[in-house]
Amino acid sequence: MVKGSAYRQAAYPIQPQFLDRWSSRAMSGEALSEAELMPLLEAARWAPSSGNFQPWRFLYARRDTDFWPAFLDLLNPRNQGWAQHAGALVLLISRTHLDGDGKPSRTHSYDTGAAWMSLALQGISAGLVVHGIEGFDYERTRRVLRVPAEYAIEAMAVIGKPGDAAKLDESLQKREVPSNRRPLAQSACEGPFSL
Ligand SMILES: Cc1cc2nc3c(=O)[nH]c(=O)nc-3n(C[C@H](O)[C@H](O)[C@H](O)COP(=O)(O)O)c2cc1C
Repeated sequence: MVKGSAYRQAAYPIQPQFLDRWSSRAMSGEALSEAELMPLLEAARWAPSSGNFQPWRFLYARRDTDFWPAFLDLLNPRNQGWAQHAGALVLLISRTHLDGDGKPSRTHSYDTGAAWMSLALQGISAGLVVHGIEGFDYERTRRVLRVPAEYAIEAMAVIGKPGDAAKLDESLQKREVPSNRRPLAQSACEGPFSL
């Protein structure tokens, strides 16, 4: 898999890991062992969260296990087309209320997003494909994976060993390149909102 930094240029000096992470869809169809998958979840475990509440939870299925078909079946057909060659699927959910007083958590999704990024950076640095998806059936996921009502379903991570991009559908082959971003000045301003 190419490194994102081969295609991307930062406007300011940053760590290469931020440019190197990108969402490839080309995977080999090999399973991931626990030893290969767990470091990604471990990295996610160390994400910051408001009050150290750690609202994230991870439900995962590795290829070639009994859990795999049920997880893969939750994806929409377009995502299934390429994700069927992944080695693991991880569902990220978050606890919507605080443990102590039961008040709503304002940042459960924000915190879980930070955990997702840690997971992705760890995976990419290990030479794996890590691709976030929201293209799956959220209601069916709650039912099939028995996600309790106190948890919000956030997204999934498709993880696998890199594969041959030439085996992807033609339309996906064209997208198999690290994407760009709008200029920073269109996302950040000093002082009150002026974007
Ligand atoms: C929460 C989330 C949901 C996404 N859902 C999908 C999806 O359903 N299918 C897909 O092919 N890509 C999906 N993506 C990948 C994005 O399209 C991709 O991250 C974005 O285009 C930026 O490209 P990059 O990750 O290669 O830098 C998703 C990414 C995130 C973070």
